[in-house]
Amino acid sequence: MLPDASPEESPDGRPDRRPDRSSDGSSDGSSGGSSGGRPPGEKGGRAGRVTLRRDLRSAVPDASAAVVVTAAVFALLYTRMESGTSDTVAVMPFMNDPGTYWMYLLSQAFGWSALLWAWGTVVLGLLLSGPRPAALPVPRQVLERWHRTTSLTTTALMFAHALMFAAELVRYEAQLAWARRLWVAFADSFVPGWYDSGTGRIAIPIGQAALYLAVPLGLLFYVRHRIGATTWRRLHRFVIVVYVLSVWHTLLYGTNVWYGEWPRTVLWLLQLPIAVLLLLRLLRPARRAERLGPPGAGEGVTRPVWALRAAGRIAAAAVVVGLLAVVVSGRDGGRDRPAEPPATAPHAPETE
Ligand code: HEM
Repeated sequence: MLPDASPEESPDGRPDRRPDRSSDGSSDGSSGGSSGGRPPGEKGGRAGRVTLRRDLRSAVPDASAAVVVTAAVFALLYTRMESGTSDTVAVMPFMNDPGTYWMYLLSQAFGWSALLWAWGTVVLGLLLSGPRPAALPVPRQVLERWHRTTSLTTTALMFAHALMFAAELVRYEAQLAWARRLWVAFADSFVPGWYDSGTGRIAIPIGQAALYLAVPLGLLFYVRHRIGATTWRRLHRFVIVVYVLSVWHTLLYGTNVWYGEWPRTVLWLLQLPIAVLLLLRLLRPARRAERLGPPGAGEGVTRPVWALRAAGRIAAAAVVVGLLAVVVSGRDGGRDRPAEPPATAPHAPETE
């Protein structure tokens, strides 16, 4: 495990000049919500069923686009580090060497493409489960397929982000024997609660929770014929939690949105369409059974369930107002850029 260094350690085990933040603003989003009923292509028999294998094939163009976006973000982060304008270096000056820290930069780039794809797939899910847009430019079935393929790509990108972070730790802990080196990198990246320093003690488990929830909440779709469409739909609703955790993790830990400057404001601003779509989805759900009539009116809707649904709608409205307040006031949880950059010495790597 990483030594209990003071000052705090960075996400990669080097001194982390970032003060601890156990919580920060979070945004809200939507349930990627299934469209209900039988999915397109499922004609009741096995032959027409949408399978994981088929969706993985359909996801190839989407995943290729994600790789191109990741490469572009990586190039940008690399260039900024080379030119001395990197915010990551502003937070952790010892990282001022893109040739050494390229895996860290690639991890960051995968993090951004994962977040962008998560944003897109949540928007698509909300368009499907909320009020029908008056004029959809593409057929609904195409939107559904895009929702499924972008969701598969998102999970892969999240995993690549964590994997590159682990790879950077393997590089860094060069003084350890191989078995220990691999274990430390794996545990710090993938075992909740293992990473034990600085903001990462909170931010990394939040990221891990997002990744570990994304897998079942997305993939259970492909076994819905076994678990039942209703169970699947009820579970999939919670996929919004994955999105909220992802944004929260980024706001807490992303060095490129560390300071209270425009990149952080843009990140907050991007949550507004999601929150509005979520609110609309709750107020006017596509599935009639989910509409909120007067208390006691809906069939099988007990008062506690009605109260819960009403509270959900109020919470979503509050999130919209909260996001507007953050963007307008500029109180976005960002730090002030220090006049003097912090000291640069990395902490000693782990010893056996
Ligand atoms: C096992 C799970 C995860 C681990 C170990 C992990 C690790 C990290 C670390 C160490 C950082 C700090 C990088 C920096 O210095 O900026 C970071 C930032 C970030 N993470 Fe994660 N993360 C995980 C899950 C996720 C998930 C699920 C998302 C969602 C899309 C995500 C998106 C991001 C983004 C966008 C950043 C900001 C990068 C930057 O500022 O350039 N992470 N993560």
